[in-house]
Amino acid sequence: MAKLWGGRFTEETDSLVYNFNASISFDSRFYRQDICGSLAHVKMLAKQGILTEEEKNLIVDGLTGILNDIESGKLEIDYTAEDIHSFVEGTLTDRIGTVGKKLHTGRSRNDQVALDMKLYTRDEINNVKALLKELLTTIHRLMKEHINTYMPGFTHLQKAQPLTLSHHLGAYMEMFKRDYERMCDIYRRMNYCPLGSGALAGTTYPLDRAYTASLLGFDGPTLNSMDGVSDRDYLIEFLSALSIIMMHLSRFCEEIIIWNTNEYQFVEISDTYSTGSSIMPQKKNPDIAELIRGKTGRVYGALNSILVTMKGLPLAYNKDMQEDKELSFDAFDTAKGCIRLFDGMLKSIKFNKDRMYSSATGGYTNATDAADYLVLKGVPFRDAHKIIGEITVYCINKNCAIDDLTLDEFKKFSEAFEEDIYDAISLDTCVRKRLTIGAPGPDSMSRVIEINEEWLEEN
Ligand code: ARG
Repeated sequence: MAKLWGGRFTEETDSLVYNFNASISFDSRFYRQDICGSLAHVKMLAKQGILTEEEKNLIVDGLTGILNDIESGKLEIDYTAEDIHSFVEGTLTDRIGTVGKKLHTGRSRNDQVALDMKLYTRDEINNVKALLKELLTTIHRLMKEHINTYMPGFTHLQKAQPLTLSHHLGAYMEMFKRDYERMCDIYRRMNYCPLGSGALAGTTYPLDRAYTASLLGFDGPTLNSMDGVSDRDYLIEFLSALSIIMMHLSRFCEEIIIWNTNEYQFVEISDTYSTGSSIMPQKKNPDIAELIRGKTGRVYGALNSILVTMKGLPLAYNKDMQEDKELSFDAFDTAKGCIRLFDGMLKSIKFNKDRMYSSATGGYTNATDAADYLVLKGVPFRDAHKIIGEITVYCINKNCAIDDLTLDEFKKFSEAFEEDIYDAISLDTCVRKRLTIGAPGPDSMSRVIEINEEWLEEN
């Protein structure tokens, strides 16, 4: 396929150089965005009298035909072309003749590729939003189901205070809500059209950039042509946001892996989301959760790569920027796959309520409440803390829970203890009494679930 830039050269490009420079193996992915951008460009050129109506119609029909034929499989992309832009323009000229050569009037591949990548990223933002919405809906349903499913809460991976599964899941609900909102923020900030920036300094043709922008669903044209062709901030923001999503998924996976161990048995990952061992017949491994945790590094890698690529680039376009694609595409695919797989895994997980309940009753998770009980009886908090600390040691030696002690035993530590201590430190009380918004008590959780319900309706 003919090059777009042969005229100035008297010698053939070295074949290694040609392949090193070519990008079609990865930018063919945005053929649709490239053609849609060209369609808008050509319509604008005709509106401005730069192309005749007849020329525009021929080009529009030609481009539409190419798009349909690629989608239906009738037209195969020629991977000997330098890039997708060359392929589309070359195919157009083959099909409609000389008028196809007018397509690139008032345009450079620099603003063309800036547009294509933006259009592609914009679509991916919407895809990620849809996947996050699905995941949030799953978490929301589980939160409603598990308002009264008690479990221990941890700090330092040591049992700390009792809470509910609904509350624990609610933490992830907040994280993924923020992730979703980050998508909306990035979309809003990036939604300006670079087409018309030319190679770097605009063009002398009387382009109507606002018109092209509106045809492509942008909020307007970018306001500086050098920035228009060399801005990749939106991609860096998107990869950062994907990295944060992966970090959240990875933390959740880590917990699920722990909860799924023989030692915990809080959950059982379904057979459909587990794999076995080639040697140990008894094994059922949480490979999907591990893989999601593992793939997080890959998405961070893409973010790091583009940050490093961009940091030393003088304005405006430099070929280094072609490196914005491969790892980004890999990160988009990886993150989307992980959200989808995670949602499926979560939907099929069995929560072992009894195990969680009995785990919540052990480990002295009611020690804080026992101290608070003494405070209500007039004991200063610092003294109460010390008394309960001593009681904990006593119980550890006796291998029992705090509420297993008799009232006489309690009284040996403090006269302030009375019969109502048992009710005050029961698991039920410990959870129920946590009423402030954001806490695990069922009243507070119901309020939060209502807020989330509204959020899901609005988004
Ligand atoms: N494949 C190139 C890229 O991805 C397209 C832009 C080429 N521009 C140029 N001045 N060589 O960045």
